Amino acid sequence: MIVDIKDIKKRYSELESLFPNVFTIGGIESDLENNPFSHYLVYMKNDSIIGFINYYDIYDRMEIANFNVLDDYQNEGIGNILLKRVIELSKGKENITLEVRCDNVKAIHLYEKYGFIKKAVRKNYYNGVDGLLMEMRLMKDVYVLGIESSCDETSFSIVKNGVEEIATVISSQIDIHKDYGGVVPEIASRAHVKNITFVIEELLEKSKMTMDEIDMVAVANGPGLIGSLLVGLEAAKTIAWLYNKPLIPVHHIAGHIYANNLVKRLEFPLICLVISGGHTELVYMDKDYSFKKLGGTLDDAVGECFDKVGKVMGVEYPAGPKIDKMAKIGSHTYDLPLPLNDDSYNFSFSGLKSAVINLVHNEEQRGNEINKEDLATSFQETVVEILAKKTVHAIVNYDVKNLILAGGVSANSGIRDRMKEISEARGINFTCPEIKYCTDNAAMVAAAGYYAYLDGRRADFTLNARSSMELESDISWFFNENMI
Ligand code: KG4
Ligand code: ZN
Repeated sequence: MIVDIKDIKKRYSELESLFPNVFTIGGIESDLENNPFSHYLVYMKNDSIIGFINYYDIYDRMEIANFNVLDDYQNEGIGNILLKRVIELSKGKENITLEVRCDNVKAIHLYEKYGFIKKAVRKNYYNGVDGLLMEMRLMKDVYVLGIESSCDETSFSIVKNGVEEIATVISSQIDIHKDYGGVVPEIASRAHVKNITFVIEELLEKSKMTMDEIDMVAVANGPGLIGSLLVGLEAAKTIAWLYNKPLIPVHHIAGHIYANNLVKRLEFPLICLVISGGHTELVYMDKDYSFKKLGGTLDDAVGECFDKVGKVMGVEYPAGPKIDKMAKIGSHTYDLPLPLNDDSYNFSFSGLKSAVINLVHNEEQRGNEINKEDLATSFQETVVEILAKKTVHAIVNYDVKNLILAGGVSANSGIRDRMKEISEARGINFTCPEIKYCTDNAAMVAAAGYYAYLDGRRADFTLNARSSMELESDISWFFNENMI
């Protein structure tokens, strides 16, 4: 819990004795009397003071004067919490400044994580140790450049403040891969290399902006095809280095989720049904950029299932959109099993896929003709049924205000209609991404990047691509590997 020291019976002497190297006895009281700008926030645990931050609120700017956490409580994230509070209190101001000993590497890293930049060095300021002046510019409007290349789309976009799309360019490789019935990783990465500079040029033309006007670079660094991811990541690092902009790593699925934010600001708490070519998950969010996975597929992803079922029906890759169209014409005549029809939040689609494949083969052997439209309807309605059941379960259990869809399969009309119905029946809001932003694009990455930035996520140039990574709030691996 964070409190202003004036609100806890002025326990000045307690704070002074806990940090004898920082304060002299009576120092806080006299500071508060003589300096109307000065404030002390203390972090309390079981009514004991654990740490504090002393800041000056000076009209249109903030200054952090002192900041300390007891030795026994270092590494518990208390410094983060105190600093975050001061950043929140600084909303609408021009900047936050501070001074730190040059040898206090840990503190410098923490400040950098939140976007403070090294401004100047004061020689010998701390009795033989140099002082480092740092500043965080509090930008009014934030323009994020988003980069997406995790599968077979090369895309760049600029989004303002996480909600307003300025311009987006998507170069799709579907025509190259459809002859193979799926994405060929080696061909995909080569195509990204070939396309990427053209996509950047087109974006700058379309947006009428220059790289200097962009505030940060957000890149989807995973999960996805490693060779494809690396092309976008290298472009992101190059731009961030060349134009001296912060580099923000974004989880590809966080991107899909934030495609909704471009339609309507997310409302919390919410449930997101993530349905794409590689993922099928139910995710709970109680605030921005905080993800809790409730359950996921035990085998195939729903998009993969659409594509494989399409293949056996002779439908071109990607089969999802075509099956969706056929399903509108047919009727539900084929009996298919409802997969993993239990009370968990998990899914399973391989059984359903096999059931369709077996049905087609059996009918072929008997010399019967399959009615493809009827099969498409039967298959799609079975998928909708199981997705709806698990989603309702999550909405009710978590008492949420908003249901959202994410991923390529959220373009499916049957799924969209059913989820809308479910939400209306329960009086909660329903949002789905624009059809063009259901599949992979960089606008979603730029939107998510803005909230990742507000959450303090930054990377240095050692940032690597990851073919698999969990969509969770825990990013401890990331701080160890990739923080400056
Ligand atoms: O999100 P996405 O572009 O790629 C991944 O990150 O996986 O999703 C692609 C998937 C493909 O499997 C495609 O068949 C499916 O989304 N898809 C659809 C529809 N439109 C795209 N599936 C069902 N109905 C649709 N209308
Ligand atoms: Zn995707």
